[in-house]
Amino acid sequence: MADQTKNQGGSVLRIEEISKSFGPVSALEGVTLHLEPGEVLGLVGSNGAGKSTLVKIITGYYQPDGGRIWVDGEPVEFKSVDDARAHGIETVFQDLALVDELSVYHNLFLNRELTVGRGLRFLRNKRMKEEARRYLSDIQVSIPSVDTPVEKLSGGQRQAIAVARATRQPGMKILLLDEPLAAMGAREASLIIALVKNLAREHGVSMLVVDHNYTHIFELCDRINVIEQGRVTLDKRVEETSLGELTEFMLTSYKQQLQYG
Ligand SMILES: Nc1ncnc2c1ncn2[C@@H]1O[C@H](COP(=O)(O)OP(=O)(O)OP(=O)(O)O)[C@@H](O)[C@H]1O
Ligand SMILES: [Mg+2]
Repeated sequence: MADQTKNQGGSVLRIEEISKSFGPVSALEGVTLHLEPGEVLGLVGSNGAGKSTLVKIITGYYQPDGGRIWVDGEPVEFKSVDDARAHGIETVFQDLALVDELSVYHNLFLNRELTVGRGLRFLRNKRMKEEARRYLSDIQVSIPSVDTPVEKLSGGQRQAIAVARATRQPGMKILLLDEPLAAMGAREASLIIALVKNLAREHGVSMLVVDHNYTHIFELCDRINVIEQGRVTLDKRVEETSLGELTEFMLTSYKQQLQYG
């Protein structure tokens, strides 16, 4: 997890003039933004504004056509999701995140199982269970039992386990969440909101969160960036703005797009 002593005063992530087209469709037209250590940055914008494309570029899934990315002040170029992971960047992909029929603890250790022996290796189930329990209690995620198959958990609990799995990766410092509260009820959503805040405040994880619900964004984030037509058009700390102002801003830019788009 994040090393809070590192990078004092510098952005953990900085991207400058990132552009990306898909054939004739220009998804990003020069996005510039920064993320500070332990900060939760909310990214909002209409459908098709480029939010998911940006998340996929930061996580190494797509390569940009132009622009630059720095992690902890170092220029980086990600050719793959593994490249981004090596720099401590993790994403929770909605569909690929968990294996339904496996237990909570097996999911937390997926592809990084603890084993003993050489040749034929044995899983260290007891140890993995203990570590899973300890980690979940550390980040204040409460579930009935780490033995439960994840298919038996609620949507909110499943998402919490997916987030926990991402943040358990060694050296992880930046977590990208693309609509983590989609299709969740209020109670479910509050679980994830509490988890995101805990990870940022207590564990120093920096996060970029995409969400269409401005109430959630205000609850979750320290700062908000609006992205419209492939560019950042507003950058404000939550205490410098309001739900009313954000709604108004989005409405105005939507009307302008209708007029000139
Ligand atoms: N793989 C792709 N191939 C072609 N076009 C794409 C691809 N991915 C995204 N696009 C286009 O790029 C633009 C930005 O899409 P993106 O998914 O980033 O938007 P978004 O802001 O995440 O929207 P939403 O809020 O609906 O999730 C859209 O016009 C979309 O159709
Ligand atoms: Mg999207």
